[in-house]
Amino acid sequence: MSHLILAASDQATTPIHALGEADLDSYLASVSDFIRGFAALNGFAAKAGQVLLTPGQDGAVAGVLFGVGDGMDPMVFRALSAKLPTGDYHLKTFPDSLVFDDIVLAFGLGGYRFDRYKRSSSPGPRLVTPGADITRTAKIIEACALARDMINTPAGDLGPLQIELIARDMAKTFGAEISVIVGDDLLTGNYPAVHAVGRAAAPDRAPRMIEMTWGSVDHPSVVLVGKGVTFDTGGLDIKPSAGMRQMKKDMGGGAHLLALGQMVMATNLPVRLTLLLPAVENAISGDAMRPGDVLNSRKGLTIEVGNTDAEGRLILADALTRAGELNPVLTLDLATLTGAARVALGPQLPPYFTDDEALAAEIATCARQAHDPVWRLPLWKGYVDALDSDIADIKNDSDAWAQAGSITAALFLQRFAPKTAWAHFDIFAWNPRARPGWASGAETQAIRGLFNLLCNRFS
Ligand code: BES
Ligand code: MN
Ligand code: ZN
Repeated sequence: MSHLILAASDQATTPIHALGEADLDSYLASVSDFIRGFAALNGFAAKAGQVLLTPGQDGAVAGVLFGVGDGMDPMVFRALSAKLPTGDYHLKTFPDSLVFDDIVLAFGLGGYRFDRYKRSSSPGPRLVTPGADITRTAKIIEACALARDMINTPAGDLGPLQIELIARDMAKTFGAEISVIVGDDLLTGNYPAVHAVGRAAAPDRAPRMIEMTWGSVDHPSVVLVGKGVTFDTGGLDIKPSAGMRQMKKDMGGGAHLLALGQMVMATNLPVRLTLLLPAVENAISGDAMRPGDVLNSRKGLTIEVGNTDAEGRLILADALTRAGELNPVLTLDLATLTGAARVALGPQLPPYFTDDEALAAEIATCARQAHDPVWRLPLWKGYVDALDSDIADIKNDSDAWAQAGSITAALFLQRFAPKTAWAHFDIFAWNPRARPGWASGAETQAIRGLFNLLCNRFS
């Protein structure tokens, strides 16, 4: 259970009255002159995210008024946990338009803090939910916090080995099988592109291919793939400093995959689940892959490295080929793949790509249900030949004329992806600015919607 959400508390809990703007007048008509006056004095108008602590006779906090605005978006409750002082609270009233579980979810996501490197930090508020079964919601909150912790952890403390250890820990918890191919064994194991991208890193940061399998073989095979670049210097086509600054987050796809995998395993979804997580550092050394090098790939297609900074699609090429060997009914990949995705849609709206119309529609529906926005972009065939190489089967940096970098990256992946249902998510995994409930730094995207999709499809 998430530490932010409790089934019961042994201390007194403060009641929260969550009010939409439309409910405010009738609510204020039902309370004492004192509270009504206090709310007016403090300008409480139930605007989305407004928090007002109301005092009792002794001057201590007796209750909380929380504004829900138009009452349509439960995610405003992220701001509540970010703004409340430390203590235990319970929800006394909330607008009929909202679902209790969604509120709990938002409270849990909004209360996330990354304090690993802070000498002191406050425990923060907790929501007590007596009598409610919020097990599933708590698992989602917990999984998202794991992904965010991984993404926020600096590359110096989270390399490919640390990702492996986290994956091994998870496998142990859920009784999954795990196999890891490390360093030069990637060559004999036929993951040449994973090896090429990661081979320049120091030996204790050697590249590796992590494969975790869980669930009965009788269940449908679902494969999740995630980009695990623990740091992206850009390689020899080195990134400018501003761009490199955030590249500890380039394993965001891998963190998302572990989080989604954990949701699936923790809720015992009847699927045969495989997690494929290539974990590498895109480093610079005498052994680094060079611009112009031609790599082999697991699929057998040769890849010309036009730019060593387009490394994510290289490791995903091998991982997606592996996915196809597992007879998947569904393959999903998540990756912080391109800066172009952010240019197209900004940091809050990750694009997804699939040619499966039914899957596309279901992703959209489930994402909306989960209040976890995504936006479809096309696998536009007109840009496929922007990936043509003069000397190899394909190249990793598309011609400039095609411009749409997130689309051409997705088209590159499509060459390697299974022919059965496949969708690719080009996530940003980051809040560039802090808002109450959205701490700056790591953010999860798409996986809550995808969890809904997996639950709908397979349970
Ligand atoms: N990890 C980056 C993409 C990225 C950059 C994601 C900034 C989020 C924020 C990726 O490996 C990369 O460098 N992509 C290049 C590709 C280009 C060289 C073809 C990009 O997007 O510029
Ligand atoms: Mn890169
Ligand atoms: Zn990258």
